[in-house]
Amino acid sequence: MPAQESAPRETIFSGIQPSGELHLGNYLGAIRNWVALQSSYRCFFCIVDYHAITQPFEPDALIRRVREMACDLIACGIDPAKSTLFVQSAVREHTELAWALASVTGYGELGRMTQFKDKAEKNPDNINAGLFTYPVLQAADILIYHATKVPVGEDQRQHLELAREIVRKWNARFGETFREPEALYSSTPKILGLDGQAKMSKSLGNTISLREDDEAVWNKLRTAATDPARVRRTDVGDPDKCNVFTLHKFFSTDERQAEVRKGCTTAGIGCIECKKWLLEGVKADLDRIRARRAELLAKPDAIDEILADGARRARAVAAQTMVLVRDRLGVDRPGNARLPDSQP
Ligand code: TRP
Repeated sequence: MPAQESAPRETIFSGIQPSGELHLGNYLGAIRNWVALQSSYRCFFCIVDYHAITQPFEPDALIRRVREMACDLIACGIDPAKSTLFVQSAVREHTELAWALASVTGYGELGRMTQFKDKAEKNPDNINAGLFTYPVLQAADILIYHATKVPVGEDQRQHLELAREIVRKWNARFGETFREPEALYSSTPKILGLDGQAKMSKSLGNTISLREDDEAVWNKLRTAATDPARVRRTDVGDPDKCNVFTLHKFFSTDERQAEVRKGCTTAGIGCIECKKWLLEGVKADLDRIRARRAELLAKPDAIDEILADGARRARAVAAQTMVLVRDRLGVDRPGNARLPDSQP
């Protein structure tokens, strides 16, 4: 047996909110990385619907978004045969563990989370307790699988630090139970939106969705911000100050990138030409993703079956962890009054 197969693989966990369609920023910043990791790690990828309800939402839309997210993730290359892909709410143990972990989580620490403060500021009429305890559920997501590596963006740094602190407090109080998870920050530079100013994000409306057709993609690219110093066609540009060039780095060959750099810095090509070249590369990737999505959609029950199978596999692990956790806490020990488990 080859060496790499005999060593137990490390466990990875990551989660994504069912925000609707994936966009280029999610794809380049996170999902491509997940796809690369799934061959060498034991991966759990989770669509975190219980996190999503902490912000305004519609139940019917939530169901749809969860399925769309699953479809997009698989289309991007998450392989259900390699990774466990599932929906958070289908594995009840996550919320149960979150409650247990809350008892070793500091109120002051939660109040220092910048994401909580940002969300509270943006939505002063709905500062609910779920928003406040969001990072505790996130810690539960990770710890219930004893995951040691967590691929996330820089914006999750504080949440990961808190998860580690929760582990230390829990283990000190109840005995060695969990391992401190480590963040795996992707090396991908921040993907800016089409405005070239802020991070690409659905709430800012500066995205290209993976579901848009070529014409829609082109209409957005056509007006995307470039090097602000290049005003006229005859001005030379600086590719390193141009967000369109950043995208070329992901979608274009080395030769094409060199051509762009030369053309831009000598005013040999204009921004529109540069964007047309970019479109060719983007199209190649999107065509592949669209083809996979079409295949999935042709099999009506495929997504549900994949998610149900993922939830079963995840639950087998999560349930074991909870037996240990309940035992450590002294709750629901055999001999105590027990209710039958509710139906899954
Ligand atoms: N909070 C993460 C985000 O918004 C999503 C998430 C939920 C997550 N649970 C997680 C990420 C556990 C990593 C691990 O991006």
